Amino acid sequence: MNNSKLDVFIRPIAARLQANHMSRLGIANTMRLAYFYNRLKFGRQNRWRGALYQRQLATLLEENGRLSRPPIEMKDGWALDTSMSLPYLDRVLEDSDKIIAERSGERRSSKGAYRSYFQDVWTPEDLERYPSFLDFATSSEVLSVVSYYLQSIPVLSTALPAGIRFVESNAAFDDQPDKPHDSQLYHIDYYSLPNVYILVLLRDTTPQHGPWTFLPRSVSQKARRALNYWSRQRGYRVSDEDVYSVVDRKEAIEFCYPRGTVLFIESSGCFHYGSRNSIKPRFQLMLGYTGACRTDFSEAIMPHQVYPLCDSDSRLRKIVLNKNMLG
Ligand SMILES: [Fe+2]
Repeated sequence: MNNSKLDVFIRPIAARLQANHMSRLGIANTMRLAYFYNRLKFGRQNRWRGALYQRQLATLLEENGRLSRPPIEMKDGWALDTSMSLPYLDRVLEDSDKIIAERSGERRSSKGAYRSYFQDVWTPEDLERYPSFLDFATSSEVLSVVSYYLQSIPVLSTALPAGIRFVESNAAFDDQPDKPHDSQLYHIDYYSLPNVYILVLLRDTTPQHGPWTFLPRSVSQKARRALNYWSRQRGYRVSDEDVYSVVDRKEAIEFCYPRGTVLFIESSGCFHYGSRNSIKPRFQLMLGYTGACRTDFSEAIMPHQVYPLCDSDSRLRKIVLNKNMLG
């Protein structure tokens, strides 16, 4: 059976398994099935990316742009960069100002839409209009961190979560601002193991902005085991009460920093929530990286994002932006 026939066969089953955050079989069971399916489809790409990481990472990074600083190391599932010195960050912030001026403060989705408090104002045309975002996402400084964490050459996600999101969180758009719901509640992402986010604050962020809030990996994993999370018995979202019944609330870290601060985090390992009662609008860039073999079915059931590529792009950039590439 070739891949296209496999896709056609699997699509309705995958849609049912993924529905309602994998509730039919439970998250862990569905992730195992999805990983099995994705290995059939992308096992070769996965092995190729792993081998490139092992044997050629230094050369690929050098070709892509020599590292200007010692690599950032994620510890306990996360790392914070407050240096404001990552390449292309200045341009990202400059372009973000234009996008915020043009699109913020207006609710674009209809009333009652999923996650009304959180809207992604990024459009596919922005990839060409504002190249700073892809330049930042594929810079050697950023990719060295993500590659090391994945022990492979990563993919800028083409399905869930979107590889690039430009997010406004705003309590004024929230149908129930006083009642945390959906991603305002603790959860661990199931898309890919591991899944790494790079979050960039596009405006100064304080507790009043509904900051992205997380527990370090070791604390999260302790809570996951204690709560039997990802099992069939437990839903995707978990109340504060349940989480803080097994870990100290003081372990929670709020991503409250000045504009231009960058957080690297394994969202598939760390409990997190965000956009809770953003009485001041929060603006955040969210980049999502996965391995070649995901643990969900989103590629089987969703259209794929295609990123622009040029002949002159480095090999590393081409590999990150083109999941199907093989040497
Ligand atoms: Fe999440």
